[in-house]
Amino acid sequence: MTAPADNEPEQRYRVRRARTADVRHIRGLLDGYASQRILLSKETVTLFEDIQEFWVAETVSESSAVGTVIGCGALHVMWEDLAEVRTLAVAPEWRRHGVGHVLLSRLLRVAEELGVVRVFCLTFEVDFFERHGFERVQGTPVDTDVYAQLLRSADEGVAEFLDLDRVKPNTLGNVRMLRRMGTTSQNDQDDSRQPN
Ligand SMILES: CC(C)(COP(=O)(O)OP(=O)(O)OC[C@H]1O[C@@H](n2cnc3c(N)ncnc32)[C@H](O)[C@@H]1OP(=O)(O)O)[C@@H](O)C(=O)NCCC(=O)NCCS
Repeated sequence: MTAPADNEPEQRYRVRRARTADVRHIRGLLDGYASQRILLSKETVTLFEDIQEFWVAETVSESSAVGTVIGCGALHVMWEDLAEVRTLAVAPEWRRHGVGHVLLSRLLRVAEELGVVRVFCLTFEVDFFERHGFERVQGTPVDTDVYAQLLRSADEGVAEFLDLDRVKPNTLGNVRMLRRMGTTSQNDQDDSRQPN
């Protein structure tokens, strides 16, 4: 399904929890951006293992019961108070139609439900995340005890969060950003684009 023209109604997609059958579509979205070094690539087995962290946006149409996956995003909990938004990706032809906003809003809502008070992301999309209440941060915003615990993680994203030397080539040019939950952002106040 192609993206709507600018003068067409926007609410032609919905956001839902990902299912295992979505992995092939998440794979496609991820590959497009990973090949440009915009997103960290992941093994397909990791996508299956992490499927419960993922949400997808899919098209809704009267002519077909089956939607097309046009975006995805995941929330990965790292510690009691801390999670990361990762693998947030919208199909190129659907960008700038509010899909990223709806996906990110959902992930932030999940973070709140889980009791997470800080959400991290590593991104080139600084303006987009700033509009959602994220601020640039330097370094790794955890104390030394938590840092030592996080070092035990085998997760590549956690290694990037910790800014370990071995993953620095993956994150060159990315901006480290953090959102404190409980604060509002420009986009929280404008939920008119939320289809569900
Ligand atoms: C970041 C990303 C997910 C945003 O997705 P998106 O669907 O384009 O996001 P939105 O449409 O909600 O918002 C993007 C912009 O379009 C604007 N916009 C939204 N709806 C619009 C509409 N109907 N008409 C015109 N502009 C619109 C928004 O104001 C926003 O502007 P901003 O970036 O200056 O804040 C997408 O660009 C992407 O996949 N990037 C590559 C992967 C990546 O970098 N991910 C982040 C790190 S995990």
